[in-house]
Amino acid sequence: MNDTVAIVLAAGLGTRMKSDTPKGLHAVAGKPLVHWPVQAALDAGCRRVAIVVGHGAEQVESSLRARFPGADLVFPRQEQQLGTAHATLCARDAADGFAHALLINGDLPLLTGATFQALREAFAVSGGAFALVTSVVDDPGGFGRIVRDADGAVQRIVERRDATPAQEDIHEVNVGVYLARTDLLFPMLASVGDHNAVKEFYFTDIVTMMRARGLGVGAYVLPGPDQAMQVNDRIELAAAEAAMHLRHARDLMASGVTIHRPASVLIDPDCTVGRDTEVWPGVEMHAGTRVGARCVVGRGAVLSGVAIGDGVDIKPYCVLTDSTVEDDGKLGPFSHLRPASIMRRGSHVGNFVELKKTELGEGSKANHLTYLGDCTVGRKANIGAGTITCNYDGVNKFPTVIEDGAFIGSDTQLVAPVRVGKEAYVGAGATITRDVPDGALAITRVPQVHVEGYVQRKRAQRESKG
Ligand code: UD1
Ligand code: CA
Repeated sequence: MNDTVAIVLAAGLGTRMKSDTPKGLHAVAGKPLVHWPVQAALDAGCRRVAIVVGHGAEQVESSLRARFPGADLVFPRQEQQLGTAHATLCARDAADGFAHALLINGDLPLLTGATFQALREAFAVSGGAFALVTSVVDDPGGFGRIVRDADGAVQRIVERRDATPAQEDIHEVNVGVYLARTDLLFPMLASVGDHNAVKEFYFTDIVTMMRARGLGVGAYVLPGPDQAMQVNDRIELAAAEAAMHLRHARDLMASGVTIHRPASVLIDPDCTVGRDTEVWPGVEMHAGTRVGARCVVGRGAVLSGVAIGDGVDIKPYCVLTDSTVEDDGKLGPFSHLRPASIMRRGSHVGNFVELKKTELGEGSKANHLTYLGDCTVGRKANIGAGTITCNYDGVNKFPTVIEDGAFIGSDTQLVAPVRVGKEAYVGAGATITRDVPDGALAITRVPQVHVEGYVQRKRAQRESKG
């Protein structure tokens, strides 16, 4: 594909999305829609990708530049959206010096690099002028219909709105991916007319023009329906996203991951899961989450940008963001790791425990109802139920340090900045405002007093009044 420029069409208004956001920037499985075809073109080895932009041009361009910093991306403008032929023509300069152009509609998130390779073979077999990708679908809906001649060769593409009832019933459709010789394509595009139902310049007219010149039109028919899924509205967006998640779930299962109810999990394609890990229904993984081998990810867990080691047990309904859990950690149910938290090897957090920018050392435990923020906990410490680091005075954040082997009694407030020394004890119900020395016991509770005979005196008072 070194001689091939990819041209991704993404200037359309996306009217059917009913949105203020450009269509190409709507997220599909964690990435903007238009990122997917660009990624597929780069994966296939295209040296340059030209993305034709119009509606929301600056936003689309900056989003793609940020995502693919090293790539040769160019952004021809299409000021007025006059149709797909006109849009492609806007990329003419970007295609200068390339023998071939791979045209891709920007609303096809499920395409793979392998499909482009197969298209290239169909292109070569048909004479090396033009080829397209087709798919046989149950519901041809708004797709262009593929009309074949008596010999079975592709003769033309008819858009739905221009189709006769008989053509409307054709189930082989135009996917919106084409490979063309640039020296033939661009002069032809300049002479495409708008003699159709919507007065647009259709790219699909190229097929008829190639045939009129006596050139062969190759076709690669997709083996299944998913890669043809286009996103014109939010219903199609949901369907494409579900297909993408299911495809990734199948790949993971094939590589040795158990997934209960795969249709219920949302594991984005940039997330990895190790062998013999078990994933329960309703789990979400986003933003490059990596889960190791032999883990259990319980029902409803939401993992975003996290690295999980091997043998980690995540009980249901945990939420983990931009954090790390080393091997053999245990979490949940209902634990919350906020950004920059690290659970070292074999540490535990239990129900309603929240960590923020906190390191929990090897083998340490915080099993119930606790908030640790800006806190460093050493090895083998025990954080009792209801422990709270008071890390914020309304203006600044302050750190708390809990050294190795310390024992924090239940219902303790640690008013930061503060340090609890090595193997020190904090008695239950303490409000710790000063550092606790190594090996000491800190108690701050008010001594318990008993008012003897209290109930009897009260009763006697009531009876004397009544
Ligand atoms: C197009 C095809 C149709 C095919 C379908 C499948 C044409 C005429 N029709 O129809 O045969 O079955 O895709 O994917 O090509 N765009 C521009 N500028 C424009 C118009 C569109 O950049 O002036 C871009 C859009 O942003 C979109 C892509 O081109 O990414 C396709 O346009 P869209 O309006 O979605 O075409 P369809 O009606 O789906
Ligand atoms: Ca479309």
